[in-house]
Amino acid sequence: SLPNDFLRALPKVELHMHIEGSLEPELMFRLAQRNHIELPYDSVEALRQAYDFSNLQSFLDLYYQGANVLQTEQDFFDLTWAYLQRCRQQNVAHVEIFFDPQTHTDRGIPLETVIHGLTRALEQGERQLGISHGLILCFLRHLSEEAALDTLEQAKPFRDKIIGIGLDSSELGHPPEKFERAFAAAREQGYKLVAHAGEEGPTEYIWQALERLKVQRIDHGVACLEDPALVTYLAEHQIPLTVCPNSNVRLRVFDTMADHNLKTLLDKDLKVTLNSDDPAYFGGYMLENYENVQEALNLSRAQWLQLSANAIDASFASDTRKAQLY
Ligand code: ADE
Ligand code: ZN
Repeated sequence: SLPNDFLRALPKVELHMHIEGSLEPELMFRLAQRNHIELPYDSVEALRQAYDFSNLQSFLDLYYQGANVLQTEQDFFDLTWAYLQRCRQQNVAHVEIFFDPQTHTDRGIPLETVIHGLTRALEQGERQLGISHGLILCFLRHLSEEAALDTLEQAKPFRDKIIGIGLDSSELGHPPEKFERAFAAAREQGYKLVAHAGEEGPTEYIWQALERLKVQRIDHGVACLEDPALVTYLAEHQIPLTVCPNSNVRLRVFDTMADHNLKTLLDKDLKVTLNSDDPAYFGGYMLENYENVQEALNLSRAQWLQLSANAIDASFASDTRKAQLY
């Protein structure tokens, strides 16, 4: 077994974390009060009790409802600052965070309010905590490609604040190919590209994300083992998979952590990274994911060092920053 504190001390890089999914129930209540919004729960405890999911959609319904309390630039700052405090406590040195602009612009919050709040916190985190960052704008795949293209257009004034474009929300029934033109447009604007694929969806969606959207990383991708040719491709090209263990168990992708396929993914030399996805909803941040994995799967020290190195390699950090992170 590993030395005490090995996992806590391990320098970490997080590549798959939705900032709206870091909204803790306590902060949700505080912002609801501040913004005079009524929540359909009597208490923090009642809200936490509702976090009992049967699949991705049952989670997304609560996640979008929770995001309604985010109204002002200060709200987005407070949300992001709270996440960065967790990062500091857990030795997370570099973060690439997702945000879902359409969740906010569709209820009348200006994109500028969202981006200014997030970036003000991220820049303060870089200065005061030494945590480097990237911001990844995700299109909601349950909405139309026209809406995605419109969002991309609205993001033009903030191009320098955003490193990449991603694709999230309800996977089944919304294949990557639906967004081929939107991703082509994003590629022309020089964005890095990622997409959720193979979380609940089939291996075909992972192929589409790679071949049609031309993404550089696959978010989740745990379904890949069902297609040996895909596993070979992912290994040969060392395509990073941003795997989220707690999320997968909470959303019933795997029954228990002991059933998670992480070890098989590693054995097949896939470029796996570990991440928290929506830490406020799935029982914890990076360290809690590491600890739950270790308890159930008992990885070796070498495997942990491999996972850490993978995340640095897979990040969109500069070569200079990568050298510092190693
Ligand atoms: N949005 C937030 N978390 C998500 C997940 N795990 N899958 C798809 N969309 C998401
Ligand atoms: Zn996700």
